[in-house]
Amino acid sequence: MDGRTFFRAFRGGGGGKNGMSELVRLTEVTKVYQGGITGALNGVSLIVEKGEFTAIMGPSGSGKSTLLNLVAGLDRPTSGSVAVGGTDLGKLGESGLARFRRDNIGFVFQFFYLLPNLTSLENVLIPAQLKGSDATARARELLGKLGIQDIADRFPARLSGGQQQRVAIARALINSPTLLLADEPTGALDTHTGDQVMELLGQLNRDGQTILLVTHDAKLATRHAARVISVMDGKIVDDARLESPERAASEVIRVRSEEASR
Ligand SMILES: Nc1ncnc2c1ncn2[C@@H]1O[C@H](COP(=O)(O)OP(=O)(O)OP(=O)(O)O)[C@@H](O)[C@H]1O
Ligand SMILES: [Mg+2]
Repeated sequence: MDGRTFFRAFRGGGGGKNGMSELVRLTEVTKVYQGGITGALNGVSLIVEKGEFTAIMGPSGSGKSTLLNLVAGLDRPTSGSVAVGGTDLGKLGESGLARFRRDNIGFVFQFFYLLPNLTSLENVLIPAQLKGSDATARARELLGKLGIQDIADRFPARLSGGQQQRVAIARALINSPTLLLADEPTGALDTHTGDQVMELLGQLNRDGQTILLVTHDAKLATRHAARVISVMDGKIVDDARLESPERAASEVIRVRSEEASR
């Protein structure tokens, strides 16, 4: 079979594979911001299975961050529902949502957002302290796993961008979240460092971490994620599970450009 048939055979994600269990379910989700004329999201339905490494791609303003924020429980949809781990987020009040985020969600941002007056180790420990647990041993272990144990006592101003992002990833993982969300985690890094950070995320995923990530970079998405969802004007226009990520990379780019020219 040729490349096209191979690729098509694995297209049409969202249905899930046998033996996998559902972690995130969006049902007909629409988000219209105050003063917005059109929706930032328009009737998006999506299922993410436990253990998946999914990348969300799309042009600026297409609704990627909006989608991630709704899954994180940082914002609420105008209509439709968001469920994570079987919990309908719409049924939670503000304190319930805060608890849900603390216990289930790790979030990594483009610009790291480390607290400048705390060391790397202390930054990593913040979410654990909110939970009231002493996680120093686990924090050191995570820093080691991410290859930055030697900078545990340094302040963020003395770290490279790649090191800062690794600290931020360790902070996102300290409470062992069910779901790791990352919005353009490589957006402020050079190509090589960005690749290393994506490689780390890939390693975490191989160890079982479910990851939902937003990126502009088609190459990084297809090299590291097993599923690539393309968003345009607040709608999902493509959803591809890549059995062999690198092999199918050019196909996704081709499909996306076809869709963009429609
Ligand atoms: N807080 C807000 N209030 C009003 N409009 C917003 C708000 N946040 C986003 N929008 C609008 O919603 C749409 C989707 O924005 P979103 O931030 O989700 O896009 P994005 O795909 O993440 O873009 P980028 O790649 O530039 O980060 C855009 O038109 C944006 O201007
Ligand atoms: Mg964004």
